[in-house]
Amino acid sequence: MEIIFLLMAALSIIAYVICIVIIIDVIKMQLFKIAPTLPSRKVMRKAILAEIRKIRPDAKTVIDIGSGLGGMAMLIAREFPKSNVAGVEFKILPFCFSWIIRFFRGPKNCRFIFGDATRFIKDKKFDIAVCYSGPWLMHAIEPYRNNFNILLSLDFPLPNTKPAQTIMLHKDSLGQHRIYVYERKA
Ligand SMILES: C[S@@+](CC[C@H](N)C(=O)[O-])C[C@H]1O[C@@H](n2cnc3c(N)ncnc32)[C@H](O)[C@@H]1O
Repeated sequence: MEIIFLLMAALSIIAYVICIVIIIDVIKMQLFKIAPTLPSRKVMRKAILAEIRKIRPDAKTVIDIGSGLGGMAMLIAREFPKSNVAGVEFKILPFCFSWIIRFFRGPKNCRFIFGDATRFIKDKKFDIAVCYSGPWLMHAIEPYRNNFNILLSLDFPLPNTKPAQTIMLHKDSLGQHRIYVYERKA
């Protein structure tokens, strides 16, 4: 009886914590105009993989800026086993989800970092950066665009930089999807 009571108490505390985390995330989304954790679709991921294969199949370092549930980062890591892939996410629930999945199922060449990606990228260089987030994030990463040899952004362009290429993807209820390709200026 006591054990059941303790179990119920523990479950209630976990439920409260999850609710509080969700509320904090919703407030953050409203305040900072952050995109919801909407994973990229399979067709978008395939297009990103094809682009990496075409431009930089030997990429040693790859970052997913705003990795959400981690699907994109883990897929890239599986497809390019010689690359080191980092996913950075600042929402605790998606981050924990990605971390747990990666812990149990790999791939080993993928890691997830909890925190603000715009701070994380400041003093680091990557062969490839991918992102699928929103205008706020694109604005925030623009000053560091030369930290990436190639930046592949799904749907959201850098506000003040012309892409080297724009790849048209499919259309759906959210509109026309695109990949904006940016190359580092020498
Ligand atoms: C639309 S999801 C995309 C997830 C994943 N990249 C994919 O393609 O499936 C965008 C994620 O970026 C995260 N994000 C937005 N700004 C961020 C920042 N400054 N630092 C870390 N994560 C951020 C959001 O919390 C959200 O989970």
